[in-house]
Amino acid sequence: MGEKMTHVFEREGHRIYWGDTLQILADNISDASVDLIFADPPYNIGKNFNGRKDKWISDEEYREWCYRWIDLCVRKLTPTGSIYLMAATQNMPYFDIYLSKKLHILSRIVWFYDSSGVQAKKYYGSLYEPILFGIKDRKEYTFNADEVLVEAKTGAERKLIDYRKAVPSVYNTKKVPGNVWEIPRVRYRMPEYENHPTQKPIALLERIILASSNPGDVVLDPFSGTFTTSFVANKWDRRSIGIEIEEAYVKIGLRRLEIVTHYKGEELRREAKSYERPAPIQPSLLKQP
Ligand SMILES: C[S@@+](CC[C@H](N)C(=O)[O-])C[C@H]1O[C@@H](n2cnc3c(N)ncnc32)[C@H](O)[C@@H]1O
Repeated sequence: MGEKMTHVFEREGHRIYWGDTLQILADNISDASVDLIFADPPYNIGKNFNGRKDKWISDEEYREWCYRWIDLCVRKLTPTGSIYLMAATQNMPYFDIYLSKKLHILSRIVWFYDSSGVQAKKYYGSLYEPILFGIKDRKEYTFNADEVLVEAKTGAERKLIDYRKAVPSVYNTKKVPGNVWEIPRVRYRMPEYENHPTQKPIALLERIILASSNPGDVVLDPFSGTFTTSFVANKWDRRSIGIEIEEAYVKIGLRRLEIVTHYKGEELRREAKSYERPAPIQPSLLKQP
């Protein structure tokens, strides 16, 4: 499809746009109408998004493109809204400085995961992706700490007493997560797996959406991919807007959001994993005895 064409699919509370994010953000989304944005753009590192190359002519051009959609995202946020922005480690310093001029950055999060893939031999391989968490208004923003508590291992696990308190008592067993999030990447064998090179885990989006939005709020993802953001928003009774340029991925969104069961005459089904398909019959078994 031409880059200028936009299609919209919707059911109550959920909208999927198929088209270019710059155009859709500018033309279709009202200013100050979105409570939470999760932006996970192409990283300019040469991934293959269904044939669309994730590589710009120069790093400068890539960053200029990012600044354009970042500006639009900031405009679309409500005065109490929040944004989570992901990027490659080498680009994050630029976006951090850029966004700091427009919003308050509250956390610089490290999404840490172990990698069983190709290991770097001559440098320290990357085991994390950075996420910026920014808000518009320091005095008024959503942060549901109680919804995202995690186990407080030290102290509580060893049943230590906290003598700094007025009445000494055992350490809390729960705490608000710190800024290093250890969440496994989506693997082929996981039930949530979809055919996309950079699918984000449900657990990552659950923490973000539960902490930084309330039921009924509008959550927007300008680079939806497999529509994890919209899927989690739906699960937790938020409204969602997802934008994606590749039709193959829009189809994943239509299925995960249960917007339609069929698309262009084809039933939308999750692709069977290799181990779920019936084993091919061996020619030797076809021979008559
Ligand atoms: C890093 S992936 C997002 C993955 C997503 N967070 C998930 O959980 O599956 C970036 C996505 O942006 C899409 N994309 C690239 N350029 C785009 C554009 N100009 N407008 C809309 N989507 C675009 C790609 O097709 C790709 O699916």
